Amino acid sequence: MTEPRPIIYLDHNATTPVDPRVLAAMLPYFSEVYGNAASIDHEAGHVANQAVERAREQCARAIGARPEEIVFTSGATESDNIALFGVAERYAAKGDHIITCVTEHKAVLDCCQRLEQLGKRVTYLPVDQYGLVDLEAVRKAITPRTVLISIMFANNEIGTIAPVKEIAAIAHEHSVLFHTDAAQAVGHVPVEVEAMQIDLLSFSAHKLYGPKGIGGLYVRRRGPRVKVAPVIYGGGHERGMRSGTLNVPGIVGMGMALELATKEMAAEARRYRAWTSQIYERLQAELGTQNVALNGHPSQRLPHNLNVSLAGIESKSLVVQLKGIAISTGSACTSATVEPSHVILALGYGEQRAHSAIRLGVGRGNTHVEIDTACATIVAGVRRIQKLSATQPAIG
Ligand SMILES: Cc1ncc(COP(=O)(O)O)c(C=O)c1O
Repeated sequence: MTEPRPIIYLDHNATTPVDPRVLAAMLPYFSEVYGNAASIDHEAGHVANQAVERAREQCARAIGARPEEIVFTSGATESDNIALFGVAERYAAKGDHIITCVTEHKAVLDCCQRLEQLGKRVTYLPVDQYGLVDLEAVRKAITPRTVLISIMFANNEIGTIAPVKEIAAIAHEHSVLFHTDAAQAVGHVPVEVEAMQIDLLSFSAHKLYGPKGIGGLYVRRRGPRVKVAPVIYGGGHERGMRSGTLNVPGIVGMGMALELATKEMAAEARRYRAWTSQIYERLQAELGTQNVALNGHPSQRLPHNLNVSLAGIESKSLVVQLKGIAISTGSACTSATVEPSHVILALGYGEQRAHSAIRLGVGRGNTHVEIDTACATIVAGVRRIQKLSATQPAIG
């Protein structure tokens, strides 16, 4: 195996490395404690089951839930699928209408599209220039046939944090359930399902220094008791909501990752906010304020995310030429295509702004020196591209 080149990794919104403390917690559950957590009649299965239940408590504690409200899944994509298809099916007798918003992750948007093909109706709310939905528009979109509102907690591209508590309150005034895709928020900003009155919430371990391929769905049990039809059928694991043998090492890792994230969140947020502000200010100082435009909300945003459009460049050409630095042009899941980001287009700016957007996500392994180096390298890269292109239009 060849050793990977050392890189300055600034793509923590796409995924994060597994924290060594998380890996250490997981390791015994591969070949020492290998029992099936459902086979509790013998010691091997019982011990695995105990580890799963400890992790369930850790996950619940991190979002202010009860352990029995956590359903383990393979990640936020699957959690979103269960929330949307599960509610649509289970509450079909009550109604056939879902409300979401145009800047959601594809994991929600593609479910909605499929639900439309299956005869459901979906309202896609627009957002303002910062990526926020209008609360009055949410209220107006509700009909007697609405069963679910699904609005993401924090956007994966621009970091804007939605007023979830207010949206949940509006949903509940009309006896509508509220789901939020919190893949980018959990472990990074405070998430409290009780205080925020969230009914269903998706999260994913690999966004918070846990392993890939494991996530969870919070499903409220009291006031109201929320029910979802399964998407995967089988042995009836996870109280029938998600069949399949549990990924014990992954679950143990996610529990540990969430415990660590909760403890370290406040200090990390301070550090990351300082770094993202520093990068933004330095890019503005060196490239000119008019050439660096922030995408997303100036203050209501994830501390570790920065998304800016840089005048006169195609972000794809910048990102691929930045040797030794990993940043992104948009959401990782859609960056295989050169379609302009649906999120930045939804903010109301033109395609040029979308095509010149870069996303930086700072994280646990970064240092001050790396942030400095990254700024200098990005600035040099932009200057190189600007020199090559004849025109340097300002951003509209
Ligand atoms: C907001 C959001 N939702 C869903 C997902 C998908 O999560 P997972 O990779 O765990 O399926 C992501 C990851 O890119 C995300 O950022």
